[in-house]
Amino acid sequence: MKDNTYLVHGGRQPSRQHGMVNPPVYHASTVLFPSVAALEAAEKNPFEGVYYGRFGTPLHFEFERAIADLEHAAGAVSVCSGLAAISVALLAVVKAGDRVLVADNVYAPTRKLCDGLLARMGVSTVYFDPCEPDDLTRLLESGAAAVFLESPGSLTFEMTDIPALAATARAAGAAVLMDNTWATPIGFRAIDAGVDISIHSATKYIVGHADAMLGVLACGDRWFDPVRRCARQLGYCAGPDDVYLGLRGLRTLSTRLDRHAHNADRLCAWLDAQPEVAAIRYPAWPSDPGYALWRRDFERASGLFAILLQPGSEPGIAPMLDDLSLFGMGFSWGGYESLVLPVNPAGIRSATRWDTRYPCLRIHAGLEDADDLVADLDAGFDRLRRAIAG
Ligand SMILES: Cc1ncc(COP(=O)(O)O)c(C=O)c1O
Repeated sequence: MKDNTYLVHGGRQPSRQHGMVNPPVYHASTVLFPSVAALEAAEKNPFEGVYYGRFGTPLHFEFERAIADLEHAAGAVSVCSGLAAISVALLAVVKAGDRVLVADNVYAPTRKLCDGLLARMGVSTVYFDPCEPDDLTRLLESGAAAVFLESPGSLTFEMTDIPALAATARAAGAAVLMDNTWATPIGFRAIDAGVDISIHSATKYIVGHADAMLGVLACGDRWFDPVRRCARQLGYCAGPDDVYLGLRGLRTLSTRLDRHAHNADRLCAWLDAQPEVAAIRYPAWPSDPGYALWRRDFERASGLFAILLQPGSEPGIAPMLDDLSLFGMGFSWGGYESLVLPVNPAGIRSATRWDTRYPCLRIHAGLEDADDLVADLDAGFDRLRRAIAG
């Protein structure tokens, strides 16, 4: 099945649910067994069928199967947030004394986890430049349990040559972990590209409506079982209502992504013509440094990107953003609504340099009419200009 068909028909079996189109939500902790023999069999293999609420319900299994199929993965594991998925992936592959190599452009809480909890457990982290493959090759010479990638970086949008870096890391015996949230399971087939564990904050585009927290890990053969055991040992599980929203979100994922990407493209075209914009950071935009890699490896884009403003724009940022009427200001992204966020990536890098002269705004193109979004930005840029002129 092609993606658009699978998104509609995958992860549901109406004949098994009284003909109802969508699978039901099971609110469950206790699962009853009909006999001692059945109880003992379940204890031996808690991942076979239903066992206990924390191990998932038939709804969780439908969602996980759908994500695994879309990612061409051996299996998927749902957890309670994207950050929980990141921590499960790392904790499943490391032990005390190990070293992990982490791309310098990862989501900031991934860094905090590495520098905090993992460091306390005796796991050290070295950061590398995701755009300099030689950097990783050199570091791998001293060994690593895992390499963690994020492409594009969700704040600064550098593209990484995932197939090349994954091959290098695997050849050195390291597990390859990737935060694939920006592209979603239908935008980049991370497992096919050599990634062992593809991590999604389903909170973003998969749920798509800014109303649930959900994470999911799509795993290749080698790591599926360790990952699901790690998630259950930690006690991480996704709430059934949130899983329902994740599965429901899949039905419209492709349609929504088309519109997000279309609106992002329209906004970039307008922004590119503004003298106050020094650069656009959107891998699907032809002047972006990562455009060639995006074209080569990705099947589609999403709606999250950044712009760099000309030096000296700072005084205009608050007046511009405070009075936008359609763009909200808030963390997260991937919902139906447009967002904008002033960001300063300089404080969360160590292996690469971020030029702080160019103030950075991260923009999420929502599903509104692009003309209305442009008009909102246009008025905002007027305020920016007036504030700078002073
Ligand atoms: C790239 C990326 N990965 C992971 C996460 C964490 O996801 P969650 O908020 O579901 O924990 C985020 C959240 O902003 C993100 O942007």
